[in-house]
Amino acid sequence: MIVSPSLLSADFSRLGEEVAALEAAGADWIHFDVMDGHFVPPITIGPMVIKQCRRYARIPFDVHLMIEAPERTLGDYADAGATTLSVHVESTRHIHRTLELIRTAGMRPGVCLNPGSPLDLVAPVLPLADLLVVMGVNPGWGGQPFIDSTPERVRAARQLADRLHPTLDIEVDGGVNLETGRKVSTAGATVLVAGHFTFSHPNGAKAAIAQLHGL
Ligand code: DX5
Ligand code: ZN
Repeated sequence: MIVSPSLLSADFSRLGEEVAALEAAGADWIHFDVMDGHFVPPITIGPMVIKQCRRYARIPFDVHLMIEAPERTLGDYADAGATTLSVHVESTRHIHRTLELIRTAGMRPGVCLNPGSPLDLVAPVLPLADLLVVMGVNPGWGGQPFIDSTPERVRAARQLADRLHPTLDIEVDGGVNLETGRKVSTAGATVLVAGHFTFSHPNGAKAAIAQLHGL
């Protein structure tokens, strides 16, 4: 299991140190949540902050855009050192072109699906992506309860991917803890994002990441 802790639950006044600490704690990737106040109500960080964080760790940066019209600023994330750049299928009229542009800019393209969106929406573009992000919550906030239908959606996504793109990674983002992580792992997820679970674990981030690795 690839573990990608989300910085959304980190101390934003000292993000560089948080990034370094997650790498030292055994994170495989680091998940950055970019929110613009339009696609989702909150505003978090953008490419300038990601670029500053790049100096603090060598592991892949897994950047999740929750912004309208992501195709306008893709190049900024490549400059910032993003490894994977995931965009919501609901956020652009041109998901096919956007995924191609991400690849051309030198990043690994990811496509994200909200809990209310049918899986069919991403089927035509799955072969263009390296990563499918199945949201376990509605995007916008950390620490929300996991939506129970998610493992079923992951199972269906895995079946679709096995047909169209067998090496596709399936990432689950939102509401992941040991119990829900086990369910989506059984259903075929290959990457787990965990914010609240990682940062609120009584024994620290290292213990949280090790437990998720074991799933
Ligand atoms: C939600 C974000 C998630 C979030 C996950 O909009 O995309 O990455 O941080 O948070 P937890 O793991 O706390 O549910
Ligand atoms: Zn996210």
